[in-house]
Amino acid sequence: MSDAPDSPLADYAGLRDVELRKSLEAEHGLFIAEGEKVIRRAVAAGHRVRSVLLTRRWAASLADLLDGFGDRVHVVDDATMEAIAGFPVHRGALAAMERPRLPSVAEVLGGGSFGPARVLVLEDLVDHGNVGAVFRCAAALGVGAVILSPRCADPLYRRSVKVSMGAVFAVPYARMTDWYGGLAEIRAAGFRTLALTPDQSATPLDRVPLTGRVALLLGSEGDGLSSRWLHEADEAVCIPMSPAAMSLGVDSLNVVAAAAVACHGLMRGAPV
Ligand SMILES: C[S@@+](CC[C@H](N)C(=O)[O-])C[C@H]1O[C@@H](n2cnc3c(N)ncnc32)[C@H](O)[C@@H]1O
Repeated sequence: MSDAPDSPLADYAGLRDVELRKSLEAEHGLFIAEGEKVIRRAVAAGHRVRSVLLTRRWAASLADLLDGFGDRVHVVDDATMEAIAGFPVHRGALAAMERPRLPSVAEVLGGGSFGPARVLVLEDLVDHGNVGAVFRCAAALGVGAVILSPRCADPLYRRSVKVSMGAVFAVPYARMTDWYGGLAEIRAAGFRTLALTPDQSATPLDRVPLTGRVALLLGSEGDGLSSRWLHEADEAVCIPMSPAAMSLGVDSLNVVAAAAVACHGLMRGAPV
């Protein structure tokens, strides 16, 4: 079995090399799903399988799904799996999937009563695990869509997909093409934009009326929201922090924790 560039196993090269994967996945139009549950969810969501690479143990658990995939299924021993992937794949099963065409922001937001009432807007998150975890919060807490800034990390990167447990297949999302004018498009679609900031002088989220369409803006792990987005949003809102934490210098939540608290808060007043 070969993983030369023209081999189907080339899809699995350097799975821990972020830069290599970004260019390889863009060039070949693919993404990687890892683990039985995630692979099943990808297939159930309609994603097309290019190939599956798995160890014998997992071949048995996935037998029903793999039936009919013929020579697109590669069963290997643990050592070969590790040599191809470049790390021990604990969940023993990887699938290379066709990367779907992303809808536009307008398509995801849809018109009025047909589109989502609650969306998250992620500005420049860099960590793929955080992006995946935010999608999981969105799926679990009833947020209808996610909009990404042009530079936000990829929800279909292997780690995002894995951490999301497949929520990236369930929550529609789109990527803005224009950071500068991106918020204006969301506001023009009828959303009230709430900028989530740790700044404790902002309005506490639980005091903000949540009628109509609401878009929650979350900032990057390091710098938070850009001043442009903070100022352009309809309102800056915060999750109140404990004064004791603030006195210890803990002045913000991790972006995933903030997303979880805020998405739960959004359920108040959400249309049923
Ligand atoms: C790690 S924080 C960024 C911290 C950054 N120093 C700042 O001032 O925004 C990442 C994002 O999580 C959200 N966040 C974190 N703590 C928050 C809080 N207490 N209230 C509201 N949003 C919060 C914000 O959207 C923030 O941009």
